[in-house]
Amino acid sequence: MTMSFSLPLVKMQSLHKSYGPHVQVLKGLDIEMKPGERVVVIGPSGGGKSTLLRVMMGLEKIDSGSITFGGKPYISSEGLNKKTVIDPEVRRSIGMVFQHYTLFPHLTVLQNLILAPCKVRGEKKSSAIQRADALLERFGLAAKASAFPAQLSGGQKQRVAIARALMLDPKLMLFDEVTSALDPELVAEVEQVILQLAGQDMPMMIVTHDMWFAKNIASRVIFCAGGVVVEDGPPEQVLGAPKEERTREFIDRVFHIRQ
Ligand SMILES: Nc1ncnc2c1ncn2[C@@H]1O[C@H](COP(=O)(O)OP(=O)(O)O)[C@@H](O)[C@H]1O
Ligand SMILES: [Mg+2]
Repeated sequence: MTMSFSLPLVKMQSLHKSYGPHVQVLKGLDIEMKPGERVVVIGPSGGGKSTLLRVMMGLEKIDSGSITFGGKPYISSEGLNKKTVIDPEVRRSIGMVFQHYTLFPHLTVLQNLILAPCKVRGEKKSSAIQRADALLERFGLAAKASAFPAQLSGGQKQRVAIARALMLDPKLMLFDEVTSALDPELVAEVEQVILQLAGQDMPMMIVTHDMWFAKNIASRVIFCAGGVVVEDGPPEQVLGAPKEERTREFIDRVFHIRQ
């Protein structure tokens, strides 16, 4: 018998976010994520998926709403002037990888990996190097430790970016279209690394347009459009037999073309 009771890892309540007075992107978003869940977020371009992940990462302010992490307040907007308040300790426990490469170009792969642990956490260099070597080995990048980002393929860069995020022992990983800028033949090697993490029960929130990947990585799929959650359920439902007309239209348009 399985216990169905578990506290949410992340609870977003009524998130509102706009850019300036005219671009309202999140219009009361509610998402609850349980520990160990892998949530794939799909939705139309410009619908606010990146904004959502950037808010989660503390990179964007919110207009109103709140996010708790592990049951504790993480982000809220408070006071008359609606100041966004963020718990920096929680923020440090979330890792993110973006669509476009964000490695430091003047540092080697190994230096990219150990920079934050040494600088931010005060970890000893020898210990950080040891952990970095182990991660690079695991991701098939051991031979690239002293290469510079410009010497790597796009797929290698994204795997390094994932390894770099893992160096800070995140409790949640956010992936924003991490394979969208890659040549098709490099997509699989990056997705394999993320699937490997999934096998170790890393909670993650993933934005992707890759149907195969979405099906294989998701424990849950959320379709967001118009700044709200339109449909939320297991991948078989949301991707395979959506209940909402808007989800169905989107899936037909974006995904079925490639099947
Ligand atoms: N920094 C910004 N300033 C102004 N508008 C922005 C900014 N970032 C995103 N937007 C706008 O917000 C909307 C949502 O963008 P985004 O979150 O990137 O959507 P998605 O990732 O789903 O494509 C779009 O209309 C986009 O043009
Ligand atoms: Mg985006």
